[in-house]
Amino acid sequence: MSKFSHATIEKNSILLLVLTLIAVAIGGLVEIVPTFLIKTTVEDVEGVRPYTPLELAGRDIYVREGCYACHSQMIRSLRSEVERYGHYSLAAESKYDHPFQWGSKRTGPDLARVGGKYSDEWHRVHMADPRAVVPESVMPGYPFLAETPLATHDMQNSLKVLALLGTPYSEEMVTETLADLYVQQNPDEDYDPMVERYPGAVVSNFDGNPEVVTELDAIIAYMQMLGTLVDFSTVERSTLVQ
Ligand code: HEC
Repeated sequence: MSKFSHATIEKNSILLLVLTLIAVAIGGLVEIVPTFLIKTTVEDVEGVRPYTPLELAGRDIYVREGCYACHSQMIRSLRSEVERYGHYSLAAESKYDHPFQWGSKRTGPDLARVGGKYSDEWHRVHMADPRAVVPESVMPGYPFLAETPLATHDMQNSLKVLALLGTPYSEEMVTETLADLYVQQNPDEDYDPMVERYPGAVVSNFDGNPEVVTELDAIIAYMQMLGTLVDFSTVERSTLVQ
């Protein structure tokens, strides 16, 4: 037996402490270091773009109302989930989310790909009174969203802060924040420059009233874009867990 046996370590508390700390440090580094190299592990995926100002406002309302307490936005690579919700979520799809909305509870269904699944009209009715379209629903109604004009005074600052955090909002996008926000919910306006800045943005009269931008416009705009940015016929699918 060598002098430096396990018994030696166990009888010397300081030595045991030092060696334990070294072992824990190695384990910690193995877990932590990859997150610092994240730039190399999140693949760029074509189509993923920053949120339009209206979608971003909707996302803020989603966070404010705690929708994440009942809804996840993360489809796992399990066959049952992919069959129900569509292609599993890619890391790049939430790369502009601060904070991300993956969630950890599904009282209601996953919303990662709910965009385009229903009409705006359906969302209007559902948000006001979920039981009007899904009789057994336990989701609360949010009728006040339709009556609350969207507070837009700090939207430009939101874009500026996200740009600081690395979201590629250009100076033009920041300058045009309020114009872009308004035209996205009014198809009668000239929305081409906005769609050029945010490819794939859905322009629609979300809440049915183009004159006033309401919180309902914002939340429906956000719902309708979820999961629609990436063309999955071009993305290679890895093996699913059964
Ligand atoms: C108390 C839990 C709960 C909360 C909070 C909640 N939901 Fe739901 N949600 C549900 C349930 C349950 C369903 C399924 C029944 C239905 O369609 O109403 C659902 C369904 C939905 C659907 C339809 C999804 C689909 O694929 O059919 C959307 C969209 C939705 N919720 C959006 C929201 C938004 C936006 C918020 C926040 C403003 C929110 N929910 C808050 C429980 C919740």
